[in-house]
Amino acid sequence: MKKVTEISKAVFPVAGLGTRFLPATKAQPKEMLPVVDRPLIQYAVEEAYAAGIRHMIFVTGRNKRAIEDHFDTAYELETELESNGKHELLALVRSLSPDDMDCSYVRQPRSLGLGHAVLCAQPLVGNEPFAVLLADDLMTGEGDGPGVLTQMVSAFGQLQTSLLAVQEVPAAHVRRYGIVAGDRVDDRVMRVRQMVEKPAPEAAPSRLGVAGRYILTPGVFERIRNQPRGAGGEIQLTDGIAGLMDTEGVHAFRYAGKRYDCGSKEGFLEATVEFALRHPEVGARFRAYLQGLDLSA
Ligand code: UTP
Repeated sequence: MKKVTEISKAVFPVAGLGTRFLPATKAQPKEMLPVVDRPLIQYAVEEAYAAGIRHMIFVTGRNKRAIEDHFDTAYELETELESNGKHELLALVRSLSPDDMDCSYVRQPRSLGLGHAVLCAQPLVGNEPFAVLLADDLMTGEGDGPGVLTQMVSAFGQLQTSLLAVQEVPAAHVRRYGIVAGDRVDDRVMRVRQMVEKPAPEAAPSRLGVAGRYILTPGVFERIRNQPRGAGGEIQLTDGIAGLMDTEGVHAFRYAGKRYDCGSKEGFLEATVEFALRHPEVGARFRAYLQGLDLSA
C-alpha cells in the first residue's frame, strides 16, 4: 500500500443512547452537552480539523438533528446577529463550519455497538485510513502543544498501521477500558499483541487503557463485518481491531495530554471545572468563586 501521511476523514460515532446522562440525553445526544460554552462534539471536530482533517462523518442515531443543525448555516440567527451589529458573535457562529470543511451524516439504525457504528461509515470512508473520535472523551494536548489527534496523525505517518490512543489508568479503573499489552517500540509507541475489553483487574494484561481516538486502516471494516457479537452482545470495535493485530499490525500510542471521560458525570464535571478555570471570559471570576467555597462540609 502507498505510504499515507495525511488523514482526510474522521468518523464521529454519536448514535449511543447516553444512558448515564439521562434524563439530559432523552431528547438530545450526549455529544451536544456543553462544557462551558461549546458542545462536546465541537471540541472533537476542532481537534480533527487541527489535525488536517476536512471531511467529518457523523454516525447519528434517532436524535441527530441537533448535531446536524450545529454544523449547518443558521440563516435566521446570522441575519439577526448581523442586523443587531453583533459581529463577534456572528463570526463565532460562522466559524463552526469553515468553508473548507465538509460534513456528512449516516444513520446507525440501532445502537448495536461502537464497531457497528464505525461500519455504518464505510460507504463514506471508502478504502483509505481514517480517524475515529469519540466526542465524549474530551482530549487536550499538553500545554500549548499539539492536540492528541495531531500527534497520532504524525505517528501514523511513520507506522502506517492502525493506531490506538492509550493512557495508563489506575488498576481499579481497568474494568472501564479496552486494555492493551505488547512490545515496546519507543517511549510513546507499542506494538499491540493483546487486547481485552473491560477486564477484571486481576485479568488485565497491563494498565494501558484505550482512549477514544483511533486511526484505522480500511481493513477493519471486513473484520467488523465478519465477527460475532462480543461483550454485552454488542458489535465491538475492539474485536475488529484485534482481528488486525496478526495481519496488518496495530500500534498503541501513548499521547501527551489529558483525557476527560465526559460520558460519566464525574469526568464531565472535572472537565467543566478545569475548562471554566481556563476560560478567558469567566476564568478569573470562577477561580475567585471556587476559592470562596467552603468545601469542608
Ligand atoms: P458508550 O459506550 O459511551 O455508550 O459509547 P453510550 O450509549 O453513548 O453511553 P451510555 O454508556 O449509555 O451512557 C461510546 C461512543 O460510541 C458511540 C456513542 O455515541 C459514544 O460516542 N456509540 C455507541 C454509537 O455511536 N453507537 C452504538 O451503538 C454505541
